[in-house]
Amino acid sequence: MTRLHTRNPVRSLLASCLILGSSFTVSATTQAPPSLALPVIPAPQQVLPSAASYTVNSRTVLSGSDEAARTVAAQFSQLLGKTSPLQLNLAEGKTNAATGIHFQLDPALADATEGSYQLDVAAQGIRIRAASTAGLFHGAMTLLQMLTPATGSDVAVPAVSITDAPRFSWRGFMLDSARHFQSVDDIKLLLDAMALHKLNVFHWHLTDDQGWRMEIKRYPKLTEVGSCRSPAGEAGVNADGTAHLYCGFYTQEQIRDVVAYAAARHITVVPEIDVPGHAQAAVAAYPEHGVVDGPTQPSANWGVNPYLFNPRDETLQFLENILAEVMQMFPGKYIHIGGDEAVKYQWQDSPQVQAYIRELGLKDEEALQSHMLKRLEKYLEAHDRKLIGWDEIIEGGLPPEATVMSWRGIEGGIEAATHGHDVVMTPGNTLYLDFLQTNLPDEPPGRPKFTSMQRIYAYDPVPEQLTAAQRKHVIGVQANMWTEHTRTFARLQHNVFPRMAALAEIAWTPLERKSYDDFLARLPAQLQRYKALGIGYGQTALSVAMKRQDDRAADKVTVELSNPLSYRDIRYTTDGSTPTAHSASYGAALTLPVPTTLTAQTFFNGKPLTDAPNRWVFDGASLLRRTDKTLATCPEGGRLQLRLEDDNPLEGPRDSFDVTIFNPCWLWEDAQLQDIASIKVRAGRIPYNFGLLKPEEAKRGYRKPVARHGEFEVRAGCHGRVLATAPLPEKPGKDGFIELQAPLRAGPEQVTDLCITFSGDTRPQMWVLDEITLQPRK
Ligand code: ACM
Repeated sequence: MTRLHTRNPVRSLLASCLILGSSFTVSATTQAPPSLALPVIPAPQQVLPSAASYTVNSRTVLSGSDEAARTVAAQFSQLLGKTSPLQLNLAEGKTNAATGIHFQLDPALADATEGSYQLDVAAQGIRIRAASTAGLFHGAMTLLQMLTPATGSDVAVPAVSITDAPRFSWRGFMLDSARHFQSVDDIKLLLDAMALHKLNVFHWHLTDDQGWRMEIKRYPKLTEVGSCRSPAGEAGVNADGTAHLYCGFYTQEQIRDVVAYAAARHITVVPEIDVPGHAQAAVAAYPEHGVVDGPTQPSANWGVNPYLFNPRDETLQFLENILAEVMQMFPGKYIHIGGDEAVKYQWQDSPQVQAYIRELGLKDEEALQSHMLKRLEKYLEAHDRKLIGWDEIIEGGLPPEATVMSWRGIEGGIEAATHGHDVVMTPGNTLYLDFLQTNLPDEPPGRPKFTSMQRIYAYDPVPEQLTAAQRKHVIGVQANMWTEHTRTFARLQHNVFPRMAALAEIAWTPLERKSYDDFLARLPAQLQRYKALGIGYGQTALSVAMKRQDDRAADKVTVELSNPLSYRDIRYTTDGSTPTAHSASYGAALTLPVPTTLTAQTFFNGKPLTDAPNRWVFDGASLLRRTDKTLATCPEGGRLQLRLEDDNPLEGPRDSFDVTIFNPCWLWEDAQLQDIASIKVRAGRIPYNFGLLKPEEAKRGYRKPVARHGEFEVRAGCHGRVLATAPLPEKPGKDGFIELQAPLRAGPEQVTDLCITFSGDTRPQMWVLDEITLQPRK
């Protein structure tokens, strides 16, 4: 990850705060096209009216002009069967049918962009034509969406003629299987979803400090040793004190299965073998290919770990031998060689490496990294493959033919394109899906500086600064699902969907056809398809967000409601019942007496967008209570806020906590203290397991403890007087939590910010706030 460290982390994190803050609005698309009417995502390039519509029903026959076209027809039929009541039959043999649904490979279209297709609806039937099977397949996905969701057995297809082609040739999605591991079936579900969205590159992050996940027959210890880590904290220890390991790798057979499954859906798998950094699991397996003496193990720390591969020929030979097996498993043109976040401490500290730099006549460690990558590029080129790497591969000299993946913003992409290199844009502050999708408290663990659907949708991968010739080097765009904080596949799906729909549209749809409002109108149908395909999309973005302002003196609360995606139809009740399309429509802030139960749900076209409404109970107790996820952070808390999971219990659900890891601190703004006698906190404790760069490490702070095990402290504002304090116990109770209560030290404050901290070193474990409650005088 990474993303704990960027070239200029403070600036980039700040920038993302500004952009991601509540003031962010989607820039109105200047010339919004007329509504496309078709519920298709990504929106096609051109939809024109045609002479006649056609009704598909169970008697409609599918056919194909040849074997490849018949294969697409069969895939279409299978997916249609899953997503609608329509079960269509495929005609025997090659046909040239003018009726039914006909897929036709048409060499006359050969000049068109790879992946393009033509779909025509006529009175006798529907015809999809393309020069390539990939084009036919994309056309099939469009028709599938035109027919679904369908509840009846007769589906009228509007009279249209669609001409469609992708904007970019690289429409990527990256999955991190190294930090947490997914099953082959999980990955197949993601590939199905990618196909539905017309994405065509699956970048598979298979090696990292925390795990080596790919069988290499010549070097079995890579997976014997490298595929298991002992998680930090309680999660790494069984009840009997033995290590509780987290393990997983893919056999070569499983990898071939994934590659074939992807290929059948016209998706290329690009494997990543990260060099020279993010190498701790590999070095744990083969220490002789590392730099420092002594054993290590796959890391339990997120962030930037120091382990580097050795730069010498023996290790480059080792890496080439690995790549030889990689190339046998992955037939695609590109192999990703990482290059990111290779902090050079180990090379700087090694007399042997320093001597080697001098021996090679190189300038510095960056040049040494470039030396390694250039040699690996030569090796790949000799086997007719291409090297792609993260934008750090620019430093020290780009390998001559390399493609650059721009993640630390867009600058790396601009620089590479300016020098004639192809680039894939994947800026972290827009396209990293470990950033949560809303700022709601019920988002799963991840990075709470959220990345909204609007932000992704508004992104144009082609930087304005580039000339027309340089723009051609932007071959595509990609979103990345890093999994440090994503332990389960359910959460992974929550993070990826529905944001993948916005990714699809920036990757495929021509700029002039993009319209966020139109996208919102098409999204509900896509959600129905997700359901039919078993895709567990996140519902938070579709739910209702609530902002409250309490007035405890008057026993009232003022509430603002909104939908994170900007759907406008919010219905609510105050009697506890579930809203319907006819319930009160939310217009402006509501002032409610206490107690009130407010229930609200987002609607579109008269239908609720979530499975369940949001419900808030505004009672006396709720006015006195806040949780970590509804509190602000103190400026001293540092900018790196994470939503971290409790590391215990080993099985079953775990709590999560919002915490600014550099200097944990929580802030209750404008707390009303008039009649308060004491303050109670509930807190948990989780491991501090982050590898940081030395300058960032220096920002880690905490208050010196006074009591033996430290104390919790509440101050009036971050620098005001101490309002309440109580000593901490040595460790949490059996349930992983503590509850502490401290009298409020009387003073002049009536309404003030409460700044909550726990003293003592945050390492190896840090206390984290779960809930704070004000206790009134009896
Ligand atoms: C990255 O996030 N380290 C590419």
